[in-house]
Amino acid sequence: MIIVGVPKETVKGEKRVALNPDIAAQIMKLGAEVRIEKGAGAAAHFTDEAYEAVGVKLVDDAITGSDIVLKVQKPDAAQVAAMKEGAVLVSFLWAAQNRELIDLLNKHNITALGMEAVPRITRAQKMDALSSMSSIAGYKAVLLGADNLGKYLPMMMTAAGTIAPAKVLIVGAGVAGLQAIATARRLGAVVEAFDVRPAVKEQVESLGAKFVDIPLAEEDQQTETKGGYAKELSEASKQLQKEAMHERVIASDIVITTALIPGKPAPKLIFKETVAQMAAGSVIVDLAAEQGGNCELTKADEVVISNNVKILGPTNLPAELSLHSSQLYARNVFALLQLILSEEGIRLDFEDQVIHETTVTHDGQVHSPVIRGLLGLDG
Ligand code: NAI
Repeated sequence: MIIVGVPKETVKGEKRVALNPDIAAQIMKLGAEVRIEKGAGAAAHFTDEAYEAVGVKLVDDAITGSDIVLKVQKPDAAQVAAMKEGAVLVSFLWAAQNRELIDLLNKHNITALGMEAVPRITRAQKMDALSSMSSIAGYKAVLLGADNLGKYLPMMMTAAGTIAPAKVLIVGAGVAGLQAIATARRLGAVVEAFDVRPAVKEQVESLGAKFVDIPLAEEDQQTETKGGYAKELSEASKQLQKEAMHERVIASDIVITTALIPGKPAPKLIFKETVAQMAAGSVIVDLAAEQGGNCELTKADEVVISNNVKILGPTNLPAELSLHSSQLYARNVFALLQLILSEEGIRLDFEDQVIHETTVTHDGQVHSPVIRGLLGLDG
């Protein structure tokens, strides 16, 4: 019988777990045994008893002897060494930034499926953990901004007079940005948003926000790659964006930045001269902090205070909504497992684009053509 093991996450501040009891029960229906490390779900509010109640075995070590290991964060060297040779690992891997780990996985002949490598095609949407987690980050960023602002978000008509609604600016309207817009709108703020990809204008407007039109230079008329991601802007457009952003940022109470360019440091969009002109008590929540930040002053996982403006650079907001982020992550992982696990055992069908691109390492080699490209392995 195939054994699926779920260790406790060990990265500091990580409160998620790769499997919740409901999905554990679904995996057992595929004919596997599920083992979980004692206390692995505690920070996500899933008790040991809840796993036991659906038939999961509680163990001290869920890695040794497991055929499939499910994790949220990439494993460390000791965890890789503890895995059975030829076992399957499913977790976030971020191969391009973790070359040493990839080599180690190959040395131990681990078949590693990277959740960030799931192709963003319609059929794979239910496996798209990047989107599930980004959406949570966008939601939580607004709550964090609101919590740090000494103002109401909605308009308030009180006996003591009327309070104007807060102004929220969202920069980057991808998955996180769109959820941030929706959340800020639900809280009653006046929201405007900007993205270099003009295609998102309609989505921004349909969520009740105003799209900020920033004219870009002639050479930047095509700002979207074939895969739907943003391209880096020319120097001329960067300057145009800097000037336009300055005006919009100083008029805002909360600014949430989410702008990313795949494979590049986050574009710098808010400069210290702008922060110096923001109103006292304003808040910037920079979701690009891990990639260097969209604001010049951001420090990852710190709160910087400059000119009475708070600049927050959280790098793991999904961990702060640990119950739902674990539940959604487990569903994403399960949808992927359904493609490889059945009563007959484990089978990787490399004819399937999802398996082909998501399998980062296999048979001692980097397998995914996308990851091979990112690592420059094909010359
Ligand atoms: P991301 O996290 O890479 O970037 C966030 C946003 O920042 C993007 O919208 C990008 O255009 C924007 N950005 C980059 N540079 C900027 C700048 N200088 N100023 C302002 N904004 C800037 O993107 P994310 O959220 O991962 O998704 C991007 C694309 O992927 C979208 O087209 C989305 O529709 C697509 N997608 C498709 C899915 C599917 O078909 N299954 C699932 C999820 C996303």
